[in-house]
Amino acid sequence: MKNIVVMVSGGGTNLQALIDAQERGDIKNGKIVEVISSKPDVYAIERANKAGIDTFVIPRKNYPDRKSYSLALLDELSRLNADLIVLAGFMVILDECVTRSYPYKIINVHPALIPSFCGEGFYGLKVHEAALAYGVKVSGATVHFVNEKADAGAIILQGAVAVENDDTPETLQRRIMENVEWKLLPKAVSLFCEDRITIRDGKAYVDV
Ligand code: GAR
Repeated sequence: MKNIVVMVSGGGTNLQALIDAQERGDIKNGKIVEVISSKPDVYAIERANKAGIDTFVIPRKNYPDRKSYSLALLDELSRLNADLIVLAGFMVILDECVTRSYPYKIINVHPALIPSFCGEGFYGLKVHEAALAYGVKVSGATVHFVNEKADAGAIILQGAVAVENDDTPETLQRRIMENVEWKLLPKAVSLFCEDRITIRDGKAYVDV
């Protein structure tokens, strides 16, 4: 059974999708052992509490820089014997001291079709604002491994939705969450825990 640590910063709808999948038995060979939040008082913490999952807050604002914050995270991750770290709306970019310690063991969900609308500065609603400003007709979400470069690790799963003429960032975000993120993130987590993701030449392949 793999120890899964989920990291959050906000409302936690992706965390909820993971909790629901776990309760349905859809996450094979893995268990969420703790939810770590970069902010106190976010709704994601309440979701974890309701599900009886331990929570731990490491406030980003208490640390002067990315490196010192990442070192604090590393301490907690090693205490938990984390096998898989899931960034579910985690709005902090990790220092390489974390990414190098967990190669191909950190999964992120990004609300666009990488390599579009990604990298530093593209997070949350800003991603959808950028997609609408560009005028793309299709957008979606990407579940990928995390490496030293923001949103640049190997892609595990992607899914697309149509962009409608009257979309706002909020309506597009919601369509992508419902149709892609909440389905693909739990799926990728289970595939990882079942050892069904193989890395070849820096790319991820799902064993079907
Ligand atoms: C989600 O859309 C997630 O993909 C995005 O933030 C939202 C968090 O919502 N993540 C990023 O932009 C990371 N670069 P949630 O807290 O309800 O899961």
